[in-house]
Amino acid sequence: MITFDASASGISGDALARAAASRARPALSLLESGKGAGGEFTDWLRLPEETGGLDAIKAEAARINGMSEVLVVVGIGGSYLGARALMEMLTPEFGPKKVVFAGKDLSARRTAELLKYLGERDFSVNVISKSGGTTEPSAAFRLLLGLLEKKYGEAAKDRVTVTTDPCRGALLALARERGWRHYGIPSGVGGRYSVLSPVGLLPAAAAGIDTEALLAGARAEKACMLSLGAESPELRYASARRLLAENGFTGELLSCWEPCLRGLGDWYEQLFAESEGKEGRGIFPVSLEMPAELHSIGQFIQQGPRTLMETMLHFAGDGPDLCVPSTGDGIDDDLSGKSLGGIASAIRRAVISAHSAGGVPVMSVEAEKPCAEEAGALIWFFEAACAVSAYMDGVNPFDQPGVEDYKKIMRELLRNE
Ligand code: PA5
Repeated sequence: MITFDASASGISGDALARAAASRARPALSLLESGKGAGGEFTDWLRLPEETGGLDAIKAEAARINGMSEVLVVVGIGGSYLGARALMEMLTPEFGPKKVVFAGKDLSARRTAELLKYLGERDFSVNVISKSGGTTEPSAAFRLLLGLLEKKYGEAAKDRVTVTTDPCRGALLALARERGWRHYGIPSGVGGRYSVLSPVGLLPAAAAGIDTEALLAGARAEKACMLSLGAESPELRYASARRLLAENGFTGELLSCWEPCLRGLGDWYEQLFAESEGKEGRGIFPVSLEMPAELHSIGQFIQQGPRTLMETMLHFAGDGPDLCVPSTGDGIDDDLSGKSLGGIASAIRRAVISAHSAGGVPVMSVEAEKPCAEEAGALIWFFEAACAVSAYMDGVNPFDQPGVEDYKKIMRELLRNE
């Protein structure tokens, strides 16, 4: 279950409760009704309950794992960041990787290295694209397909799984023509809200993540939000962000207090940037890994322009009990015998004090621990808060017209190269 605390934000409890009841609650009703801007893309609201296809996804993951040491997930934006967030939060950082990512960059250097790595291993590819025609993953996929066909010949077709729109697109047509297995991204679910669909579930299942627990966590958080209404963490967080933005705080730092939250931080950036940043409006989202970035961005946060709000994202428990040993010579006495988690918690509390005293409104979002249920709850929390926050600001949370601008120029350039 997610908890939210705005006591160091400078917003009074009354003002927050008023905004949540009079502005966020109606925004949630608009979202639920499907009558708001972009309402045709609100089917993600029902993904936590959609467990019907889960057995097929798990069976496909088991089939892939049975034949391949590595699964290459090819995608970009919403077709990549959610799966990566799950991998980083829920699979060990140190040890062999079952899932690797491609198609999110066009680096010839990295792609050549990846092809060499895969040349020496059995691998399969899950190519993910809602539109089925995005340049970066399309280019990477063609190179990977070339290697698959060279290595496995006819049998390469059993090593490609496609996740795309169920009714249209070039990738779907190709999958049908070549006989590749394919999974549908529901038409009413946009890229950045798709992590609880086959987009995130298939890579997660292949990586050994408990997908049932993931959906159960999202379901439980959704039920909690609907029963608490204006008092829910989602609506209070959305309201606090808006009140702060209206007072000149136009950027939000999501300070992540566990390295395994780094991927979730990147996913949060895309979710909020593409949902809110339009029509000259929006709160600029940036995620940080703490405490590492206290030693880089920390100075700016403490004394730079007073335009940033900060949201601390952390887990309630300290994790395994690791005690810092004494050096035996009296040096670092402040640390000797202290638990690592206790030191991290002291740093976090000090940062909250220092930043809020320095004029940075600080909010806190807390999950229990890094597990599949809490990952599902966090995904629900941020998706719902983001859509509500965008509606409160009067923008369509589900389109991204600005992303098309570079694509038009790029297509022209590629045609003429
Ligand atoms: O959130 C979105 O809709 C986008 O970020 C898309 O996910 C991204 O552009 C990739 O698109 P596609 O899945 O069509 O390849």
